[in-house]
Amino acid sequence: MCGIVGYIGKREAFPILLSGLKRLLYRGYDSYGFALINNGKEIVCFKKPGKLDNWESRLLKMKFEGKIGIAHSRWSTHGEPSELNAHPHWDCQKNIYLVHNGIIENYQTLKSILEKEGHKIISETDTEIIVHLIEKFYKGNLERAVMEALKLLEGAYGLAVVHKNQNRIIAARKGSPLIIGIGKGEMFVASDAAAILKHTKKVVYLKDGEVANITANKFRVRNLDGKKVEKEVEEIKWTLGQIEKKGFKHFMLKEIFEQPESLENALRGRLKQSKIKLSLDIDINSIKRIIVVSCGTSWHSALITKHLIEGFTRIPVEVDYASEFRYRRPVVKKGDLVVGISQSGETADTLGAMREAKARGAKTLGIINVVGSTISREVDSGIFLHAGPEIGVASTKAFTSQLMTLSLLALYIQQERGNKVNREILRELKNIPSKVEKILENTRAIKKIAKKFKDSKGFLYLGRGVNFPIALEGALKLKEISYIHAEGYPAGEMKHGPIALIDKNMPVLFLATKSCTYDKIMSNIQEIKARKGKVIAVVNRNDKRIRKIADYIIEVPKTEEYLSPILNTISLQLLAYHIADLRGIDPDYPRHLAKSVTCE
Ligand code: M6R
Repeated sequence: MCGIVGYIGKREAFPILLSGLKRLLYRGYDSYGFALINNGKEIVCFKKPGKLDNWESRLLKMKFEGKIGIAHSRWSTHGEPSELNAHPHWDCQKNIYLVHNGIIENYQTLKSILEKEGHKIISETDTEIIVHLIEKFYKGNLERAVMEALKLLEGAYGLAVVHKNQNRIIAARKGSPLIIGIGKGEMFVASDAAAILKHTKKVVYLKDGEVANITANKFRVRNLDGKKVEKEVEEIKWTLGQIEKKGFKHFMLKEIFEQPESLENALRGRLKQSKIKLSLDIDINSIKRIIVVSCGTSWHSALITKHLIEGFTRIPVEVDYASEFRYRRPVVKKGDLVVGISQSGETADTLGAMREAKARGAKTLGIINVVGSTISREVDSGIFLHAGPEIGVASTKAFTSQLMTLSLLALYIQQERGNKVNREILRELKNIPSKVEKILENTRAIKKIAKKFKDSKGFLYLGRGVNFPIALEGALKLKEISYIHAEGYPAGEMKHGPIALIDKNMPVLFLATKSCTYDKIMSNIQEIKARKGKVIAVVNRNDKRIRKIADYIIEVPKTEEYLSPILNTISLQLLAYHIADLRGIDPDYPRHLAKSVTCE
């Protein structure tokens, strides 16, 4: 959460920071700010609440000069979005400026100590105390002062610091990602590769507890004990084109339409002559139990994983919210495989859960999109989604790629344990991308439904079995980008309470494609109709029975039941998108949200 970008080199830093920050808006957009060292004389600082886009044209007219600078886009944790709380923060003398991602948990204690020592803390943030600590320890060596300050912090940080009289940026991380970008006679620092991709693809990933001292021509990394750490320079594979909107009104829409391609990429090279090829460093035969941990949309993938793995392999699978798993002293032991699913690979709760699992002796497997991310580096083994960068805050293509990859994983476990592999599903996997393409070719029915229900006060999404998590996902998509209250529920549970909500104004979306519970779903639809609810049904083409009773129909191609979540979710993504757009909400930047949640 929050975005950081920094520059040091021969060029003017401001345009580089500005374009970098724009790429980071998906990390938080409550406020933004810059600090530039103006020819080694003074620091110019500018910060404002609100989204950078609203100020861009005015900012471009202002002349901010300086070849060293740091910038920040904020997702508020401590203190409302205001100019005072926006980063950068400075010390009493206005010599040192700092930007920070993460949360400092012991900031209250440190704050009272600093205030007793005479430091004037002016914001409500936890961040400001860091810069005062650095001031306290500063005796001419910025790197040393930062290290001393960091030793006192409890919590998480990714940060960048500059001093008026020093031609360098000091960057450090613990629990919040940070990379150094290496150019020719210039260096960058950023929380995400997207911010610097335009300038360099050569990067160094900082690890927890590392501090980098960066000048225009070189960098060195030490740990908090001052010991030098050798770092490997790596190459980012993503291209600039992948992080552009390419004519689409929003990133979310672009990413929805990229799904035929991202799904192909998830399959590429992994299916050869009816054999599944995954290179995993895990002894599949020794697995006694699987636990899947994740958050948000990735947690919905985890719920589907339970169906897939238990259905194909009979290995028991437990699913947990990562944030709950960590703190309830879970029973995890040798013989367990803990699978962490995360688009970003940086979600603090998922990372924490995976570390907990490892510490308790389990093997860990990451299902991750972002190469180089912290989870992908720490797990025993991993499978990348290859979905390409996902910028829209609402996860779309990463979700379907997770489902594709997890289906492959379930079949792979079946194969490696010497069981007969489910041939129909294996064959059908290859047809999924073109079936998604078919859904995207005609979205008229979805747009019509969006128009009809855009002002609804609430929505219910109902499904059974492998499509119950899709009901949850459809409801999450709608709430997060349209701000309409929506609930996902198992269709069979309605009669135990929520059916009381039904009246003629309540839209109820059913996932009603062919399945082993199709007849039960039919009855559940009748129950809603009998109470005058408005039924929208996602059905297979040529389904005549449901067409007769539903008010609105969304058709999708037929597929294997286990793979139907991939097709069914596409229409729900589009429905949420169009409702948000019709309500005048920018779905790429929904209020209060950020793309990757690196705090607990
Ligand atoms: O990067 P991750 O997959 O770990 O992120 C998990 C959730 O924060 C994420 O899925 C979130 O719920 C999205 N906004 C959903 O659209």
